[in-house]
Amino acid sequence: MTEPSAWERILNPSNRANPYPLYAELRKTPVTRAADGSYLVSTYAEIASLLHDPRVSSDIGRSPAAAAAGDGEGGPGMSPTFLTKDPPEHDKLRRITTRHFGPPVTPGRVAGMEARMTEIVTELIDAMAGRSRIDVVDDLAYPLPVTVISELLGVAPGDEKRFRVWVDLALQSTDPGMDPESQQQKRAEAGAQLRSFMEELVEKHRQAPGSDLLSALATDDGPEGRLPDEQLVSTGLLLLIAGHETTVNLISNGVLTLLRYPDQLQSLRNDPELVIPMVEELLRYEPPVHFVPLRTALDDIDIAGTTIPAGSPITLVLAAANRDPARFTDPDSFIPRRPNNQHLGFGGGIHLCFGAPLARLEAQIALTEFAGRVANPRLVSDPPPYRPSPFLRGPSHLPTDIDGITGFLFS
Ligand code: HEM
Repeated sequence: MTEPSAWERILNPSNRANPYPLYAELRKTPVTRAADGSYLVSTYAEIASLLHDPRVSSDIGRSPAAAAAGDGEGGPGMSPTFLTKDPPEHDKLRRITTRHFGPPVTPGRVAGMEARMTEIVTELIDAMAGRSRIDVVDDLAYPLPVTVISELLGVAPGDEKRFRVWVDLALQSTDPGMDPESQQQKRAEAGAQLRSFMEELVEKHRQAPGSDLLSALATDDGPEGRLPDEQLVSTGLLLLIAGHETTVNLISNGVLTLLRYPDQLQSLRNDPELVIPMVEELLRYEPPVHFVPLRTALDDIDIAGTTIPAGSPITLVLAAANRDPARFTDPDSFIPRRPNNQHLGFGGGIHLCFGAPLARLEAQIALTEFAGRVANPRLVSDPPPYRPSPFLRGPSHLPTDIDGITGFLFS
């Protein structure tokens, strides 16, 4: 029997807690051909270049891997979103959506939520009072982003319980350990439920628009027109899912890292402004998204001494690039004041994360308040248990012993 490759070991759940030595192994060959014929790219310079290369397509309709998984149309019965489109369609759909999310038309959408985010975090931390053990995932890292994205989109309070089950099912279906048939079945089931949930929500907002993002998308005719109905549904779902599943991991990976580096937790208490570079360093050091799969070479691409043949699937291993010693000095150390921290935690190029300003603000508030108010937090088990996904990586639970809750320590 042949030894499993570094990539096979990275996908194996037993290595979820610490895949970084395996990424170092992967980087020894910057571009590797995996057993399934796809090309894995793991070094910073090569990934940064491919993220900006128009010969690398994100169009799911061109992806042989997506077609094999039955996702050639963007998911069962789902219209592809701008995440899985190329220009010019990507750019147009992203512009129409951005109109209601950020500058220049709606500059206040994210900044306007700051006070509400602080209120949510304050309530979540207040609810920890009187307990000697908390679970950072269930008590803070999950409820904050899920509440924020629900309020942003106009999802009714309580509906989170409905979509959580289907989102979990959809994510389980990306577990590489699962056989392809049950994977497809789970994806189809989750996709159908999520789609009818979002169709209902879009219709409700069209009939009675509020001040939320979904109402704006469903009713406003900007200079480039409205998103077609099926696009509205798939974009609403993309924002709902991308809007919390990733941020949960940023906050829980962030707290985990602070508990492992108590000197940095203390530095944050002493200087709350440190949270801004600290969150960037977390996006490099413990990124929530470890790789972007389903890219396709549109032409033969010569890179790092290898030719990726036209038509080949490409996976960009962002988390390996973020620890590349050729780009970052002392890459395996957590150094919040690291100079020139151009991490790839939010990807890069035209698909650079759409929700980055929202995710940054949520993580900054959560970590500052946690550091300032939770007394003497200690990890119960290190490493904690991990969620199964190798690409959206983060703890499933983060049990933490505490000595209580205080008022805000900084003032
Ligand atoms: C810490 C949290 C987050 C991380 C680490 C993250 C990471 C990423 C990454 C790596 C990409 C690039 C994917 C690719 O190149 O194929 C991306 C794209 C995207 N993200 Fe995020 N994301 C986060 C939060 C959010 C939030 C809060 C939202 C929604 C409000 C969001 C919406 C999107 C969308 C719509 C895209 C597609 C952009 C495009 O194709 O032009 N993300 N994100």
